[in-house]
Amino acid sequence: MKASPNRYSTVAIALHWAIALIILSLIGFGFLMTQEWMPQRFVIYQWHKSFGITVLVLSIIRLIWRLGHPTPSLPNNMKRWEVVAAKVTHIGFYVLMIGVPLIGWAMVSASRLPIENKLFYLIPLPDMIGVSASDGLEGRLKFFHEIGAKLILLLFVLHVGGALKHHFVEKDGTLARMLPWLKNKTP
Ligand code: HEM
Ligand code: HEM
Repeated sequence: MKASPNRYSTVAIALHWAIALIILSLIGFGFLMTQEWMPQRFVIYQWHKSFGITVLVLSIIRLIWRLGHPTPSLPNNMKRWEVVAAKVTHIGFYVLMIGVPLIGWAMVSASRLPIENKLFYLIPLPDMIGVSASDGLEGRLKFFHEIGAKLILLLFVLHVGGALKHHFVEKDGTLARMLPWLKNKTP
């Protein structure tokens, strides 16, 4: 189904929710797997890299789709600052959805550990071109990877806060544009 003034297209909706779910799991397990006490850490690292690269691929597809397909325009009742905040949040998400996994990939490419990275235990993940093994570089990339994940969480809080305000306070059907089954249930 195509985008209309009332909803995003089915492709945009499917990609939005798939990426949101994977990113939130990556952040949760990302912080857990770096704790010494966490069992099965090595296995979780491998799944983390696999789903992280999945986010990268899905986000690039989503961005290409987004640039080629119109999205519903924002509701008329929004104030100027709200429109700017929504746009900045959405652009920030796209930058981080692509930037954080790229930094993760560069980080494992800079690692000196002789680990063979295989996505889903099947597809070999080559080292990123131009990145050579270096403890200093790996450490800096780790820092930015963590900051990037925290920025996603910050945007997430603003984004969900905005979505819930639209739904429960403005009651303007914005959430239903991304969750069409809510259409007839707007409070
Ligand atoms: C949107 C995608 C991703 C998100 C949201 C994400 C999130 C996180 C988070 C929250 C951590 C824990 C931060 C810390 O305490 O260091 C982490 C660690 C890590 N991530 Fe990701 N990640 C993503 C993609 C990737 C990718 C694609 C790779 C590699 C191919 C990767 C490799 C790693 C590694 C190796 C660590 C452990 C770093 C350490 O030992 O401190 N991540 N990630
Ligand atoms: C980490 C998780 C999430 C990410 C990365 C994310 C990202 C995005 C992005 C980039 C857009 C802009 C779509 C576009 O124009 O291409 C968007 C729209 C939207 N998101 Fe999320 N989202 C997340 C979670 C959520 C959650 C949990 C909710 C609901 C509570 C939600 C509700 C919405 C709604 C309603 C829109 C449409 C806004 C509009 O009509 O302009 N999102 N999201």
